[in-house]
Amino acid sequence: MKPAQASTATASPYAELIDQVRQANLLSSSGSVLGWDLEVMMPSGGLEHRSKQLAQIASMVHEMKTSPRVGELLAACESDASLRADPLSAEAVNLREIRRGYDRATKLPTSLVEELTRTSSMARIEWAKARKASDFKQFKPWLEKIVKLLRDQAACYGWAEGGEVWDALAEDYEPGCTAAQVAAVFKPLRTRLVDLVGRLMASPNKPSNAFNEMKLPLAQQEKFVRFVAERIGFDFNRGRLDVSTHPFCSGSHAGDVRMTTRFHEDNVNDALGSTMHESGHAIYEQNLPAEAFGTPMGDSVSLGIHESQSRLWENQVGRSDAFWKWLHPKLSEYFGDAVSELSRDEVYRSVNNVQPSLIRVEADEATYNLHIMVRFEIERALLSGSMSVDDVPGVWNARYKEYLDVDVPDDRRGCLQDIHWSMASMGYFPTYTLGNLYAAQFFEAATSEIGDLREQFANGEFTNLREWLTRKIHSQGMRYRAADLCEVVTGKPLSSDALLRHLESKLLPVFGLS
Ligand code: CO
Repeated sequence: MKPAQASTATASPYAELIDQVRQANLLSSSGSVLGWDLEVMMPSGGLEHRSKQLAQIASMVHEMKTSPRVGELLAACESDASLRADPLSAEAVNLREIRRGYDRATKLPTSLVEELTRTSSMARIEWAKARKASDFKQFKPWLEKIVKLLRDQAACYGWAEGGEVWDALAEDYEPGCTAAQVAAVFKPLRTRLVDLVGRLMASPNKPSNAFNEMKLPLAQQEKFVRFVAERIGFDFNRGRLDVSTHPFCSGSHAGDVRMTTRFHEDNVNDALGSTMHESGHAIYEQNLPAEAFGTPMGDSVSLGIHESQSRLWENQVGRSDAFWKWLHPKLSEYFGDAVSELSRDEVYRSVNNVQPSLIRVEADEATYNLHIMVRFEIERALLSGSMSVDDVPGVWNARYKEYLDVDVPDDRRGCLQDIHWSMASMGYFPTYTLGNLYAAQFFEAATSEIGDLREQFANGEFTNLREWLTRKIHSQGMRYRAADLCEVVTGKPLSSDALLRHLESKLLPVFGLS
């Protein structure tokens, strides 16, 4: 893009506002590249200096976005009714979202921001120690501090009438989403999922893990996943695939999207699933409108919608029978005789195996959502004050028994397994399951508009689906809020129906049931 132009007296308030916001996001996108480098390339000796660089950029970006000039320009633009005449125009959407970000960033007193930063960086360290010792009591005082600070933070933000504390915090991740809406979708999902998983576990005809546990050389695994990523639509001229401990995708611009995956000798399925997942995030970033870079119209809608793109490629595509019709013969091309014994059906059933377990990040496509519900229910109750921090392990273990029928042996594999709460992130977890729900509903809509996609997948053809997603979702930037986007794209509000149809129709046959 062109270098940012200095504002002139003749620029309209709207043009000056967009220019200011763009400059801030140009700087913050430079921080993204440094963040990627920290995870992927940086020698460990660079950590202290890199933390200072990232903190400096974050503070400069914050200053630019909250400068009094931005407030004046916003007010001037808002007094011009023509800019907001059509609420879906680029101008109206940009003003709506810049106002939202400005209000949130200026509502918190500096003392609270500092206290949250200080407490959460300490809490992260104390959480790691408590997890190692598998002792919730060590972490308890820190979680109490965090819940109190998050309640203070939510009080500064405020929430809509009839809403609750959780809503104010979720706004950072899923704008406009409320705990009541989440609970209304989660409830029927839970009932039918618990029933489905129970039926699968009672089946005498379970899939084998032969494919999932097969030892395969890392160099071939890497060639294999690169081939799949490119084929489904990741553009290697506008992005990179590297390796990190925890796979992630970070976009600095549609022309430069960095994603990572990971490899284990005995788990090619993890590398494949992680790569397809991150490719879904990356394809979203690569197809955002580049000309709107740095403005809300060039940005993604929410974490839930972002996750819908990753889950759709990972699950609706990558775990489908038709996809394996295409990919199964390629296995021998990449791995030779090692895989020749495995039939397509065996591989397909293997990648769709379901087994209730203790650890969220290792969970399968179906039970994953039950892990999320436990966390959502607990953080919602902690924030509203209806549950005390003392009760976290007891409630956690009881819900795991009720929803997943597993006994939690210790805190390490129970309520201390995730880092999120120690980082003062509450309101975040449900975006994962919202992603699964949106993915299933978008995929049904794509199928009904494009026609049956199975034959295309079986031929290794993914362009029609990707272009449909770009047209309906990626190219729209933040024009629609997540819930509205869902209605516009699928004609229906978000519900649990499509995800349940997807899971039941696939998994019952995989387990020899119908
Ligand atoms: Co993701």
